Amino acid sequence: MAVSRVSEEELKEQRFFIQRVRAVTHLLGHQPLAYTHSYGCQQNVSDGEKIDGMLAEMGFGFTDSPENADLVLYNTCAVRENAENRVFGNVGALKHFKEKNPGMVVAVCGCMVQQEHIAQRMKQRFPFVDLIFGTHVQHRFPELLYGIYEKGERTVCIPDIDGVVAEGIPVRRSESFKASVPIMYGCNNFCTFCIVPKVRGRERSREPSEVISEVGKLVSDGYKEILLLGQNVNSYGKDKGISFPELLKGLDKFEGEYYVEFMTSHPKDCSHELIDVIADSRHISHHLHLPVQSGSDRILKLMNRHYDTAKYLELVEYAKSRIPDLQLTTDIIVGFPGETYEDFQMTLELMNRVGFDSAYTFIYSRREGTKAAEMDDPVPAEEKGRWFRELLEVQGSLGERAYERYVGTTMRVLCTGRGRTDETLLTGRSRQNIIVDFAGDDELCGRFVDVKITKALPWALKGELL
Ligand code: SAH
Ligand code: SF4
Ligand code: F3S
Repeated sequence: MAVSRVSEEELKEQRFFIQRVRAVTHLLGHQPLAYTHSYGCQQNVSDGEKIDGMLAEMGFGFTDSPENADLVLYNTCAVRENAENRVFGNVGALKHFKEKNPGMVVAVCGCMVQQEHIAQRMKQRFPFVDLIFGTHVQHRFPELLYGIYEKGERTVCIPDIDGVVAEGIPVRRSESFKASVPIMYGCNNFCTFCIVPKVRGRERSREPSEVISEVGKLVSDGYKEILLLGQNVNSYGKDKGISFPELLKGLDKFEGEYYVEFMTSHPKDCSHELIDVIADSRHISHHLHLPVQSGSDRILKLMNRHYDTAKYLELVEYAKSRIPDLQLTTDIIVGFPGETYEDFQMTLELMNRVGFDSAYTFIYSRREGTKAAEMDDPVPAEEKGRWFRELLEVQGSLGERAYERYVGTTMRVLCTGRGRTDETLLTGRSRQNIIVDFAGDDELCGRFVDVKITKALPWALKGELL
């Protein structure tokens, strides 16, 4: 089935189910409480905000403890095995809550259960899970939940389709200054290690006019940090006759002070035009998250990444020349099937050459249904573990010095609240999307301030309010 837009008719039907769930839960005699948790990437967190939005319209309040909840929902991630194991553990732990409170509804959704074999395992192993639904039917959550209340039948709904675009779903935002805005869904890249294309379906973009008006409204509502989301934002608009840099230009024109961030940018179609638009913009973040995955051309080919290290280095060089204060971050996988110690050394070499500000590093995790899962993988786990520690050391020492180049500069910082590690300080984000801590009053929260940078830490900067 091709990608389709959810019709107004279908959305109306869901609003009708929202009212019906409201009526059913009203009979509980208290406001129903939901405990929801999203695992995985920002896209999943953004989906979770829509699920919360629908729950709020269904009359639910929210609680931080699953024990007291009338509904517990886990929105899951499938990207690596440990993410999945964690979910199995956490769902299993709900058993005794449900025994104490048989009226509790337990739901599991998201990428992990979009895989048929996982959904079936979840269903068999945990008879107390009431509802399992995949990524393509999230907008039908009210209908599915109503089915549980109405018929009490366990439901698994994971249609294997290319995907849909559903507009107008209510959103309950989890942060007050920062808002995530998905601009596209799915992925067509089929990197051989990655499960995302399988569980998220084909690439589909939202209408540019809808993205632009949503962002405009967020800015006028006082949101100061807008995070655009897509598995590969550089593919945005291929089906809409507009490019991602063109969209960014449209999002740069609103009045007021705000930052626009985006992730993720695939190197294969990251263009000079994109870099130029960032460099010439007023609001686009000076941050590029450009996952390189490996420094070996042989491995990049096996990964089906469609670029080589020469192309990557050329891009980085251009970006640094156009945006001197750019923060550059990346993702790296260690131990891809068939990777040798020599290949791995090339990754370290590339890291030394580029000098990433930070790198998210992962040990390869075999995902059933991907091409890489069929490849020979002779290197033992302990050996990969040793390489991984070596990588952490290299990035650790690079990262420690990376931010030093900002010391002495003045940064425009959006103050977001009290520091996570140091409550006596305020914390915020710079135009480069770097965390900046400084002393000041709570009334600065949600405002932009100038901060003189005095110290570089591996993951943050410290400074003084000007
Ligand atoms: N769409 C993004 C990545 C999304 S997944 C992109 O292409 O850049 C986030 C990161 O998880 C990937 O960049 C990759 O480094 C890592 N990852 C994905 N699948 C993995 C696997 N099977 N094992 C280990 N790491 C993986
Ligand atoms: Fe996965 Fe590659 Fe798509 Fe990123 S671009 S989501 S790594 S298949
Ligand atoms: Fe995980 Fe799905 Fe995101 S697999 S990384 S939650 S798209």
